[in-house]
Amino acid sequence: MYNFLKTNIMDKDAIEDLKNHYSQIGLNKTNLDPDPLNQFKSWFKDAVNANLFEPGATCLSTATKEGQPSARTVLLKGVDKRGFLFFSNYESRKAQELGQNPRAALVVAWIELGRQICISGKVSRISKDESTKYFHTRPIGSQLSAWASPQSKVINNRHILEKQRLKIEKKFHGGKIPLPPFWGGYCLTPVTVEFWQSRPNRLHDRLRYKRLINNEWIIERLAP
Ligand SMILES: Cc1cc2nc3c(=O)[nH]c(=O)nc-3n(C[C@H](O)[C@H](O)[C@H](O)COP(=O)(O)O)c2cc1C
Repeated sequence: MYNFLKTNIMDKDAIEDLKNHYSQIGLNKTNLDPDPLNQFKSWFKDAVNANLFEPGATCLSTATKEGQPSARTVLLKGVDKRGFLFFSNYESRKAQELGQNPRAALVVAWIELGRQICISGKVSRISKDESTKYFHTRPIGSQLSAWASPQSKVINNRHILEKQRLKIEKKFHGGKIPLPPFWGGYCLTPVTVEFWQSRPNRLHDRLRYKRLINNEWIIERLAP
């Protein structure tokens, strides 16, 4: 237990140094990539290099057509020129809300590095082929659980879930597990992407990319 704590404290020091370094440099239009997706990738690399736990953990906010929001954590699984990719159950609460209202937001907070990225845009499903490819990279246990869990539905007890999982395991019995028809990927195409960097005395930097009608990006500074 003591060693565990000690290791954490040492790592914490190194991360604190990194945070201070970023905080000294700060953000300005000249040290940002003109494309927010490239800028995201660069910060993501920093988070991975800092050995942060689950750097892809992201808060996804959706809303019903009446505007009632809901939020939950998902794991970002890719960023490319289309936008930000994540995977889920297509019958879940988030999926139902995205079906009614594709506008959504993501927040990635790397608190240890004093960084946050807030993204807004519209979400669409990715192709079945792409979802299938990703599905088969997941551990077998996760593939089976995706089949077994009616995500977001009320269930009477955990036993039902475990029974269902065993049933599915028997059904596919060592063979290749197909993509469930109710499971797949989403892509959030960004309209705004804001990079927040902590600075001394809480006079932080906020630089927001906004997509123009011609798909070019402008960068604006916001007050912290
Ligand atoms: C660290 C973490 C990562 C998660 N990643 C995902 C994910 O990638 N996809 C997903 O559907 N749910 C993920 N979840 C579960 C969701 O937060 C949520 O419980 C689930 O998607 C149901 O949400 P909904 O009922 O609002 O649709 C994750 C939860 C945590 C804590």
